[in-house]
Amino acid sequence: MGAFDAAAPATTTRRDFIARSCAAGLALGMGACGGVTALPVTPRDGLVRLDLRDHPGLRVAGGWLKLAPQGLPHPVYVLTLEDGTHAALSPICTHQGCTVDIAGAQLVCPCHGSTYERTGAVVRGPAERALTRYETRRDGDALEIRIS
Ligand code: FES
Repeated sequence: MGAFDAAAPATTTRRDFIARSCAAGLALGMGACGGVTALPVTPRDGLVRLDLRDHPGLRVAGGWLKLAPQGLPHPVYVLTLEDGTHAALSPICTHQGCTVDIAGAQLVCPCHGSTYERTGAVVRGPAERALTRYETRRDGDALEIRIS
């Protein structure tokens, strides 16, 4: 295990397997995985650290992973963008607080139809503000997400 994978489970759990499978499936254009269980992670000093060797779906554009950081009241979506960088987003719609779903290249709110880019920017309202985006930093195989 490397220095940045302390938050990752030591073994593959069912949840991790499902999350990895979803990310890989989306990377292959297999559609959305709205019901996928979030991968629990434990932030340290406000950071979630992922070892991308453990999450190959995040190495390809279109992949994503749903995290459940301990202490955060909602999950965090980690999405791989077209340029290979990552966006870590709150799934809470900025219109009235429903949870958005990842639907291919966009995120869609099931309540009133607001649509967001994978960067969190609004494509279509009624939402007027972007999804909350958490700072990410990539260092080789390590991806850090600052959630506080
Ligand atoms: Fe998301 Fe209204 S709560 S569009």
